[in-house]
Amino acid sequence: MVSSLFNDKNLALFQMGIKKVVELLSTNMKDNQQPFSGILPHELAVSFQGVDLDKPLDNLDDALTEISDLYLKDAVYFHQPKYLAHLNCPITYQAILADLLATSINTAVETWDQSGGATFIEQSLIDWTVAKIGLGDAADGVFTSGGTQSNLMAMLLARDYQCQQYFGSSNKQQGLAKDFHRLKIFTSQVSHFSIQKAAAILGLGYDAVVSVPCDPYFRMDAVKLAQALEYCHQAGDIPMAVVATAGTTDFGSIDPLGCIAGLAKQYGAWFHVDAAYGGGLLITPHYHHKLAGIEQADSVTIDYHKSFFQPVSCSAFFVKQKKHLSVVTYHAEYLNPLSQQQAGVPDLCNKSIQTTRRFDALKLWLSLRTVGANSLGLALEQVMHLAQQAYSLLSSDSEIEVVHFPQLSTLVFRYLPKNNPNLKLVDETNRFIRTQLSRQGQALIAATKIEGHQYLKFTFLNCTTQIKDVQQVLMLIKQYGEQFLNQALSSQLQGSAIAALEIEHA
Ligand SMILES: Cc1ncc(COP(=O)(O)O)c(C=O)c1O
Repeated sequence: MVSSLFNDKNLALFQMGIKKVVELLSTNMKDNQQPFSGILPHELAVSFQGVDLDKPLDNLDDALTEISDLYLKDAVYFHQPKYLAHLNCPITYQAILADLLATSINTAVETWDQSGGATFIEQSLIDWTVAKIGLGDAADGVFTSGGTQSNLMAMLLARDYQCQQYFGSSNKQQGLAKDFHRLKIFTSQVSHFSIQKAAAILGLGYDAVVSVPCDPYFRMDAVKLAQALEYCHQAGDIPMAVVATAGTTDFGSIDPLGCIAGLAKQYGAWFHVDAAYGGGLLITPHYHHKLAGIEQADSVTIDYHKSFFQPVSCSAFFVKQKKHLSVVTYHAEYLNPLSQQQAGVPDLCNKSIQTTRRFDALKLWLSLRTVGANSLGLALEQVMHLAQQAYSLLSSDSEIEVVHFPQLSTLVFRYLPKNNPNLKLVDETNRFIRTQLSRQGQALIAATKIEGHQYLKFTFLNCTTQIKDVQQVLMLIKQYGEQFLNQALSSQLQGSAIAALEIEHA
């Protein structure tokens, strides 16, 4: 074990290991020219049956070969141009180098006495983002594990603030106020499920979430929101929070932030903006204006691991008034005594729901200090333009129905041939197309449902994807669609022929 520890005595072994890992990665990247192998879970599960975790392998080479078989061979590769599925981005190589540094030192950023410069690197990035959002001088924030945790923090702060306002009680001290079930959260019908999750975790339940209908562009309908808030008020309930989404997961739609901010203020609701996806617009040279109104938010979620091209996890939560972060502060003598805070020691765990926490900020730091914010922003603009080109391509195809013009970089559509059979068959066909693409592995796309019907989705986050890649994926989609429909129709015909024969012989 001693020879395995990372320290100045084992640097030669470490360097040799790094070289082997880099070689493995390089071979793997060159050999794998499609996003996925197409393997099914039960097929891969077989390979794990022989692994005995109580019996280590003899050497690093064998262990790396095993990893190659069990992981790399069938991993999903987001850097491949035909990976068009979820909100996963290709990442800057500088971010990987930063991660190697942070992991090697094993910095834990929860307290100053465990992190030193790391605390200031994280805080500088928080301050930088706060300025880009325009949240003002009293704002602050903290890195989180992702958008889900950031949205949970937002709802936690909103809940405790409103309980203090309406019931004069401190949830932190006394637990939930008696009348907590009157608290309601308003969010659009296409917002991220982490809002429902947060409501459940915070003891409010899914029923506390009011789903506000959207306009035809999948943005929260402000008139419907006003009606819902008024109804809540009339019913004697409490509008705890309004959650707007800047970049919905499926449609990339951006809710009318300015309008919603006004309504939230009018009804005394906490205004949260989930910009997990759309946050990258902050650094685009031409599209910052799409986020107009975000500066009025009480809190904001931003995932650098989506539209800032950073590795998972790299994400942050922001508040307009830093005092609200005290909801998650607990002073322990063994870690972060109050006296330390009073002396001005910057212990980041005072504003986080995590204790031990990775130094995720270094990835973004090195990307900004080398690639630069402008280039990262331009990469996002590029995929937004690609989404528009893809919109033109798909809209001009008579066998495809496109649902919306892209506001960010997603596109929802379905295969719908003109001689279209019944919609149930169309649903099955679109399901088949996605499954078949995944099974073949040449291209990965996502899927979603609208009013119970099956649709397909492209998510563009890779600036190496070109329109010719999209054309090739479209050809596959139509090929699989046609194949499925022909099979289905011929078996229907066979079915009716058999039925006719049965009637004849009856
Ligand atoms: C709009 C939105 N909010 C929140 C999240 C959750 O983010 P994470 O997966 O980082 O927890 C997502 C994830 O896709 C999202 O699209």
